[in-house]
Amino acid sequence: MAVTPIAHGDWGEASATRWRRTWAAIDERLGLSGLAYPVPEHANGIGFILGGITFFGFLILAVTGVWLAQFYHPTPEAARESVVYIMNVAPAGDIVRGIHFWTANIVMATILLHLGRIFVTGSYKRPREANWLVGLSLLAITMGLIFTGTVMKWDQEGYEALGHNVEAGKLLGALGFWFSSDFEANLPLLGRLYMAHVVILPALGTLVLIAHFLLVKRHGISSLPAQADAAVDGGPAPAKSGSTFAAHLVRMAGFGLLMLAATTVLAIVLPAMLGARPIPGTETTKPPWMFLPFYPFENWFGLPALIWVPSILFGALALLPFIDRSPYRSPARRRVLMAIGAVVVVSLVGLVLFAIANAPQSHIGKM
Ligand code: HEM
Repeated sequence: MAVTPIAHGDWGEASATRWRRTWAAIDERLGLSGLAYPVPEHANGIGFILGGITFFGFLILAVTGVWLAQFYHPTPEAARESVVYIMNVAPAGDIVRGIHFWTANIVMATILLHLGRIFVTGSYKRPREANWLVGLSLLAITMGLIFTGTVMKWDQEGYEALGHNVEAGKLLGALGFWFSSDFEANLPLLGRLYMAHVVILPALGTLVLIAHFLLVKRHGISSLPAQADAAVDGGPAPAKSGSTFAAHLVRMAGFGLLMLAATTVLAIVLPAMLGARPIPGTETTKPPWMFLPFYPFENWFGLPALIWVPSILFGALALLPFIDRSPYRSPARRRVLMAIGAVVVVSLVGLVLFAIANAPQSHIGKM
């Protein structure tokens, strides 16, 4: 039988048709083309994609965290030794631990930059006040994750962090009961903080994150401040399209892969450290950088500062959308607020540098 040769163009056409059919079959079932809804072009700029980068950071943390949990023992007797095991024996343990550590630090930085972008572009204003508050609770949950992760190493730094936690729990009275061994004497606090790190905070974070994303979808990403202000003054409404969410998602994933590459290199070049075995009754370490702005206050005013300084900071941030009621969003039309923001940022950086420059002090048992 004679075989008709397929011309090159026919072959390409046939494979394109096959791909279109496969895509149509998948899309019919999963509705993926629904992701190609319009978003403004500026959503792909670095300032407006920081939240998405943070989200991909959380995915990296979840995957690496599950691997670490295979080898970690959440008891005071075995915790530190199990971290030593992860670093030296567990398959890829040292690299995975390093990626987890560096990603946590980068995620903290991208959250703060995300918050800063929203502050500068006035994107917390109507109708996004509720989402600003939802975002603040994500910040608190992330700080809780970093704190509990620090305790779990069960080295001198982790042990001291737990000591501070217990003291802060006492100061909170009935509210801090969960942090006291009176709650359940048979289970060491480390076990409960481990549960907070791997179950309670991630579950809570996932729910709050879903609320955050639903609200972003509901309001759409905020327009550029100059365009929004022009609209307030009677100009044209800002553009709501220019790109698609699918393209935005691909860009986010690109940044996510970049973060994975950067943290892998960091994990190799600067592996995550583990301090000495804890010596009860001594205080020789300082907290991780994101908690350092509170450290000088603790030195000056004692442990209660650990409650009231973050409360004032979070309280002021929570009130922001309800105090700043002007419809304008451009920094140039919000000069006083921009100046206050700059003073706060410079003060926080100054406090971190001050804390780094000064020797650690003892606080526990000195209330
Ligand atoms: C776990 C941390 C967080 C994640 C993963 C996250 C994620 C996101 C994403 C993906 C967006 C869409 C636009 C963008 O990327 O800028 C967004 C928008 C937003 N986020 Fe977050 N966010 C987090 C924390 C925060 C914090 C700490 C705040 C403020 C206190 C905040 C407030 C907002 C607001 C108000 C919007 C709307 C901004 C606009 O429309 O321009 N978020 N967030």
